[in-house]
Amino acid sequence: MKDVIIACDFPDRETTLAFLDRFTEEKPFVKIGMELFYAQGPEIVREIKRRGHRIFLDLKLHDIPNTVRRSMAVLSSLDVDMVNLHAAGGKEMMRAALEGLTRKDGTRPLLIAVTQLTSTSQSVMEEELLIEKPLDQVVLHYAKNAADAGLDGVVCSPLEAGKVHEVCGSSFVTVTPGVRFAGGDVGDQVRVTTPAKAGQIGSDYLVMGRPITGAEDPVAAYRRAVKEFRGGTEA
Ligand code: C5P
Repeated sequence: MKDVIIACDFPDRETTLAFLDRFTEEKPFVKIGMELFYAQGPEIVREIKRRGHRIFLDLKLHDIPNTVRRSMAVLSSLDVDMVNLHAAGGKEMMRAALEGLTRKDGTRPLLIAVTQLTSTSQSVMEEELLIEKPLDQVVLHYAKNAADAGLDGVVCSPLEAGKVHEVCGSSFVTVTPGVRFAGGDVGDQVRVTTPAKAGQIGSDYLVMGRPITGAEDPVAAYRRAVKEFRGGTEA
């Protein structure tokens, strides 16, 4: 089922919980990133989980396979629903991550790969990383590696979601930030899409931060995002 994940990019526990308190009827899927996790530790994850939210823990692991396996086991024990890593760590690291994540009863959180960060440009890739291929080709290649390693999906632009499904299969999950309401403030995002358009292209999960967290009425903004995303049309 297509779902909207709210990026809870808040600096501390109080602000985060006060924001979530506004949702009295629904329990949105939330993304916790490095800032909040490093500031508050695993307890913030447990607290939000206790409140009944699903959690995407966005820590983007990238290390040797053994370290990633063991770290993923720790994250899995926090009972989160989705975690991620950098596909640049290679297939062996990705397989190790899956092993670490799998709980004794066989369940595990969804494991999603970051391909190339959107802050990495073609020139940075070529001149600093010595990767001399077109960026979109690199993104799809990393997505394919992730699929081969058994991962569940990738983080990508909604504009790339259709292509990723073509290459990696329709059940390979696309988690897509860079979403703005029609006519909304773009902020620092460069290539943006509306929830409706992302839904049409085939995105499975929208990640939306400021259009919801910064809205006068975040609950209404969240409901609008879900409706437009699932319905494929603007409200
Ligand atoms: O506020 P906004 O909707 O731009 O938030 C988008 C969220 O998705 C942020 O947490 C941001 O770090 C994350 N993200 C992104 N672009 C990527 C990967 C993650 O915007 N390529």
